[in-house]
Amino acid sequence: MTEYESIAATDFKSDTVTTPTPSMLQAMLTATHGDDVYKEDKTTNDLQVRVAEMCGKPAGLFVVSGTMGNQICLRAHLHQPPYSILCDYRAHVYTHEAGGLATLSQAMVTPVHPRNEIYLTAEDVENYLILGDDIHTAPTRVISLENTLGGTIMPIEEIAKISSLARQHGIKMHLDGARLWNAAAETGIPLSEYGKHFDTMSLCISKGLGAPVGTVIVGEPDVIQTANWFRKQAGGGIRQAGLLAAAADVAITETFPKLKLTHEVTKKLASELEEMGLTFQIPVQTNFIFLDLMKAGIDPAVLVEEGNKLGITIAGARIAIHYQTSTAAIEKLKLAVKKSLEIAKQRHANGSNGVKKPQGSLAYAVYDKL
Ligand SMILES: Cc1ncc(COP(=O)(O)O)c(C=O)c1O
Repeated sequence: MTEYESIAATDFKSDTVTTPTPSMLQAMLTATHGDDVYKEDKTTNDLQVRVAEMCGKPAGLFVVSGTMGNQICLRAHLHQPPYSILCDYRAHVYTHEAGGLATLSQAMVTPVHPRNEIYLTAEDVENYLILGDDIHTAPTRVISLENTLGGTIMPIEEIAKISSLARQHGIKMHLDGARLWNAAAETGIPLSEYGKHFDTMSLCISKGLGAPVGTVIVGEPDVIQTANWFRKQAGGGIRQAGLLAAAADVAITETFPKLKLTHEVTKKLASELEEMGLTFQIPVQTNFIFLDLMKAGIDPAVLVEEGNKLGITIAGARIAIHYQTSTAAIEKLKLAVKKSLEIAKQRHANGSNGVKKPQGSLAYAVYDKL
C-alpha cells in the first residue's frame, strides 16, 4: 500500500505504529525554528490555522498527544465542581487516559451503554443527563463523543440531535476525533460539518495519518487559550515545534486522501475472514476489525503466537490496518487466523476450546487494547 517498506508494514497492533515517510522527514529539514511557547513558530502556527479552518473553527492548538488534547479541552470547559462528563462507556477519555478526568478535572463521569451496542443516540444521552439544581448530584456540563469509536462511525444526524439537546441545556460538546479523519474520509462529510456540532474537537495526526507526533485541538479562541494554559501546566509546551508540525502537515496532505483505500483493504480482509467462518464484535466500517475470538473458540495467545511465527505482530482481537500495512502481511494474517481456527477446532474435538472467559464484561475485553 506504500511505495517503500516501513517497519509498520507487518504490525497489526495499532494505526499508531506508522512511521514517518521520506517526505515528512524532508519537510522537517525545511521547517521553521521559532519557539512555539512564544507562539513564534510559523510552521506550527500555519498547521494550527490549517486544521482549525478544515474544521470550521477560529482557533487551533498543536499538542503532543490525543490524551493531552482531550484532557485539556475537557478541563477548559469545566469551572466549578461538582460536575460530570457524559460519554460512551467505552470512550477513550474515560477508559484509557489514566484516570485524567478524575485527577485533572475533578470530574464525575456518566458512562453510558449505547442501546444499539454501536453508538450513543440522543435518546441514550437524554436518559442519563443530570440536570437541575439537586444538591445531591454532579450536573452534566460536557457531553464527550468519540468518532470513530472502535472504527465505527457515529452518524452525523445523531450527533446533530445530541448537540441540539446539549445546547438546549447549556451543556458543552467535545469530540474525541482522534480518528475523525477516518469518519470524514469514509462518509465524505467534511470535518467542518462535524465541527458545527462541537465546542471543541481533538484530531490526532499521529494515528492513521502517520505523523510521528501530534494532535490539533480546535474551538473558539477563548477555550483554546484556556487549553493552552493547561498544556503549559502539563509540561506540554514545545519549543521548536515546527519540526513536528511540518511532518504533521505532510501527513494531512499525503495520507488523508489514502484513508479511503485503507478502509477498502480492511473491509476486503474482513469479508475474507468472514468466509473463513470468523465473526466480528462490532461492524467493520473503517480501519479496524474486532474479531469475535470467543465465538470462534480461538485463544488470543494462540493467534498472537501464530502471527509471531509468520513474522507479523497481532495484538489479539483487534486488527488495525493502516496505509503502510503490506499486502504480504495481510496474506500472513489470514494464514495465522486459519491456523488458529484449526487449533481451536482440534482443541474443541479434544473436549477443550482453551479460551479463558475474559474478566469483567465482554465489551471491556473487546476494547482492552483501544
Ligand atoms: C480514540 C482515541 N482517543 C485518544 C487517544 C489518545 O491518543 P494518544 O495515544 O496520542 O494520547 C487514542 C489512542 O489510541 C484513541 O484511540
